[in-house]
Amino acid sequence: MTDLEYGLGKQGSDYGAGDPRPKRTVQFSQVENIYVIRYENINPTGRLFGGQLVSWIDEVAGACAMRHTGLAVTTASIDNLTFRRGAYLGDRVVLLGRMTYVGRTSCEVRVDSYVEDKEGFRRLINRAFLTYVAISEEGKPLDIPYGLEVNSVAEQARWDGALLRRGNRISRKDVGF
Ligand SMILES: CC(C)(COP(=O)(O)OP(=O)(O)OC[C@H]1O[C@@H](n2cnc3c(N)ncnc32)[C@H](O)[C@@H]1OP(=O)(O)O)[C@@H](O)C(=O)NCCC(=O)NCCS
Repeated sequence: MTDLEYGLGKQGSDYGAGDPRPKRTVQFSQVENIYVIRYENINPTGRLFGGQLVSWIDEVAGACAMRHTGLAVTTASIDNLTFRRGAYLGDRVVLLGRMTYVGRTSCEVRVDSYVEDKEGFRRLINRAFLTYVAISEEGKPLDIPYGLEVNSVAEQARWDGALLRRGNRISRKDVGF
């Protein structure tokens, strides 16, 4: 096992496979919100503003991170924002936020955004990964008191993916990107 596989990083995380903290499940902090697209949310071509969707994504993911950590959090990064399809006036947009990984002071949340039709069928329009850092009143990183309980093959796959993305973020930071 490499340091990365154990969740250790250059930022000094001490946790990973042998995480001694009490754990919370993915379900504990899962957040689902629904928004109906209004006139003020669309651009001149009648599509949902990308920036509006990012704002909703940050709201849902931030609520998820606050639930899991029980602490104030700040957005450290938003990445892999892929807009797969447009959404239009009157569409119901469902955002589902789930914790994928919890480090020492940071955690990652995946948000899937869907357009839901009248029958309840959902089409994925966006997938994003956001990193939050728990912070003190002075804005300094704080240790997160709860690890993440991984209970299924899908949750393990999301955790493994999060470790790869974490490694990429650390490399990017090293080169000033
Ligand atoms: C996020 C912030 C608190 C991190 O502070 P820092 O002194 O760089 O923190 P450290 O280097 O000690 O790293 C702390 C944790 O943050 C993670 N981190 C730091 N920068 C990161 C980045 N750009 N992307 C993802 N994770 C990051 C580290 O990996 C580490 O995680 P770990 O404890 O789980 O291993 C600080 O950069 C900050 O306040 N940024 C502004 C946040 C903000 O205002 N967001 C709202 C935007 S409008």
